[in-house]
Amino acid sequence: MKRILTIVGARPQFIKAAAISHVIKEKYPDSISEDILHTGQHYDDSMSGRFFDELDIPRPKYNLGVGSAPHGAQTATMLKNIEEVILSNTYDGIIVYGDTNSTLAGALAASKQHLPVYHIEAGLRSFNRNMPEEINRILTDHVSHLLFAPTQTAVQNLRNEGFTESSILLSGDVMLDNVRHYAPIAAASQTPHDADILLTLHRNFNADSKERLNNILSAIDAFASEHHVHVLFPVHPRTRQMLENMNFNSIQTTEPLSYLQTLAQLDRSRLVMTDSGGLQKEAYFCGKPSVILRSETEWKEIVDDGAALLADADPLRIRNAAESLWKTTPNAPTAFGDGHAAEKIIKILAS
Ligand code: UD1
Repeated sequence: MKRILTIVGARPQFIKAAAISHVIKEKYPDSISEDILHTGQHYDDSMSGRFFDELDIPRPKYNLGVGSAPHGAQTATMLKNIEEVILSNTYDGIIVYGDTNSTLAGALAASKQHLPVYHIEAGLRSFNRNMPEEINRILTDHVSHLLFAPTQTAVQNLRNEGFTESSILLSGDVMLDNVRHYAPIAAASQTPHDADILLTLHRNFNADSKERLNNILSAIDAFASEHHVHVLFPVHPRTRQMLENMNFNSIQTTEPLSYLQTLAQLDRSRLVMTDSGGLQKEAYFCGKPSVILRSETEWKEIVDDGAALLADADPLRIRNAAESLWKTTPNAPTAFGDGHAAEKIIKILAS
């Protein structure tokens, strides 16, 4: 029996962990045992607890409850506590996901204890080192034992950085597994809001700048009112306080959506506008175009396929991108695997 410690902490990681945990539970119950450690980076029920319930993820064995803090303090608290868990157990390896501070803390703690690190969603690069996520993913990749790359672009990024071929595995994207599995469940169980555009914003460079937020929201509001449509804007806690005293006629704010609500809302939408990496992919997987409210993306396949346009916080680019994507339907995704990434990953870990 191989003992794995899975480290999660932020909303997108709970979603990715669901795909992996389900395969372990259903197909490898006799060869892999998984304990989940939740750092507590996200702690509101709307950002954390309800994802475990809705996606039927095993309850974390450890919850560090680190909460919010500046980057150094938050990562350091996680590092110290994860190390204690690792030292008082006999794990054979750890799984980390993506690019958050929880990812980096887990990877660092484990690699210093010579415990193999398995990085799921490895090799992503924005080539923008001002993003904390870019630092986290580069460092995590470089201390990982196995790098599960979701796309060929991610594989190439890793090759360019000199990783050995035997450490890189093209697995496909576990988020595609999830969309395929949960979209019919969402369609049968959720009632979406009546809105044609789904908007989210949480990146530090947008959420922490009133000027960028105002530019983005004004442009989207103008587009929506010209087209007589509504925008649904589920607000990440980070963004909430900056929105005080900002009101836009066509934009309806709401609490963060659950995973199933998000999938149902995507199905109801014609267009997505977002700075989230995860949501631009989910939109693409659900056949919806997106305007990316950033100057670059790690998921260049979506832009190359004509399903998304980069608009940054530039009002003119946002309006033009929305106009040109408004009536389009993206192709089916081909670059993200076959919807069985989790099975491929677990088969390798089990052997
Ligand atoms: C983090 C990740 C980002 C990921 C995102 C998903 C890092 C550096 N960033 O960004 O890559 O895309 O999660 O959502 O790890 N807050 C709450 N309640 C919560 C969570 C956050 O109120 O449950 C507020 C706090 O004020 C906190 C702020 O949001 O200071 C930012 O949270 P944090 O986890 O540090 O970063 P995110 O912006 O969520």
